[in-house]
Amino acid sequence: MEEMQSFHPNHLVRTKYENILENLDSGIILFDSVGVLAFVNVQMAKLLGVPRKSLIGSTLTQLLRHPQITRFKRKKIIRIYRETIFHRKRFHELLDECGRSWLITMTYGDQMEGDFLISVKDVSDFKQIEQTAYQNDKLAMLGKISASIAHEIRNPLTSIRGFIQLLRPHLMRLGKDEYARIILTEIDRANDIIYEFLNSSKPSAPQTTIIPVASLLKEVVLLTESEALMKNCEIILQHSEQIPSFISVDVKQIKQVILNLIKNALDAIDGKNDENNNGIIEIGLEQNEKQVNILISDNGAGMDQNTLNHLFNPFFTTKEGGTGLGLSVSYRIIKNHGGSIAVDSQVGIGTQFVITLPIIEMSNT
Ligand SMILES: Nc1ncnc2c1ncn2[C@@H]1O[C@H](COP(=O)(O)OP(=O)(O)OP(=O)(O)O)[C@@H](O)[C@H]1O
Ligand SMILES: [Mg+2]
Repeated sequence: MEEMQSFHPNHLVRTKYENILENLDSGIILFDSVGVLAFVNVQMAKLLGVPRKSLIGSTLTQLLRHPQITRFKRKKIIRIYRETIFHRKRFHELLDECGRSWLITMTYGDQMEGDFLISVKDVSDFKQIEQTAYQNDKLAMLGKISASIAHEIRNPLTSIRGFIQLLRPHLMRLGKDEYARIILTEIDRANDIIYEFLNSSKPSAPQTTIIPVASLLKEVVLLTESEALMKNCEIILQHSEQIPSFISVDVKQIKQVILNLIKNALDAIDGKNDENNNGIIEIGLEQNEKQVNILISDNGAGMDQNTLNHLFNPFFTTKEGGTGLGLSVSYRIIKNHGGSIAVDSQVGIGTQFVITLPIIEMSNT
């Protein structure tokens, strides 16, 4: 084997490496020591939007004057030249016309024997992951700070409430009992807000109950029927009683998820503004050996790709009065229950959400 390799003619080896370079997913361009373009790979030619053959042998000035180089690209090439040659930056980043980020790397020096190698790599996905991680960290931090502030506000409120109660008889004597009453109800309101906030921001462990999924759905649909009626919309619960699956869930939390999805569906139907078409929300169940799917479909406005990409992000909303928390909270609840949420949507046609939850084996005894 070794013997055979040593007989490989040199040009064959070169071709192999050239092939690799040519088809690398990063763009590569090489200028020799007198500034003539000596090599350019497929990806780089694609990025420049110019055929490779017309590039080899040209100088940077000729490249800039190439009739197929757009003004935008010309500006970017000059910028790369400035950053790498004048400012001697070996790495820098730039954005293209579609908003994607590219990492530009320049290699030169002794190991390059006077040549300049520039490589260009698409780092948008990486940047997006980095951004999301940063956002999540920020949100988690914000959540913790707000929760501790909310918690600390409760203590002074309790003392204020106590002292107002002590003062109440005196205020009554002065004929100002009304003031005491207002202070007390306002303190109670502030306490309620804090209680709600602490409860919703705490990633609480689910309080599980075993319940037939069909009856849970029935209860939720009852809760939403009147709102649906007001919006001239029909909620159809499909033969769910035939599905005997039991799930072990925090009933309050799962109800909250289904309510969130139905509310979104009602909003999407409202947002469609289609007088001739009646709004319909269908709620169905499917089960297999281990899981049950809860399907919630609407014939509302549907979603475009951008909305679909950001759907479950906290604070993402397309609604004027929306908080953008409904789906991110729902996602977290379903994850905590060992399930998942999937979505399928088409603009102008409608949307289907599918919640998948593990089912509980019930013995027959
Ligand atoms: N069934 C649906 N049809 C069309 N768009 C939807 C649907 N469900 C969600 N969306 C889109 O996803 C976005 C995020 O939904 P989410 O429930 O998280 O927040 P929201 O409804 O805007 O606000 P909130 O639920 O806090 O009132 C919505 O603003 C909407 O654009
Ligand atoms: Mg919502």
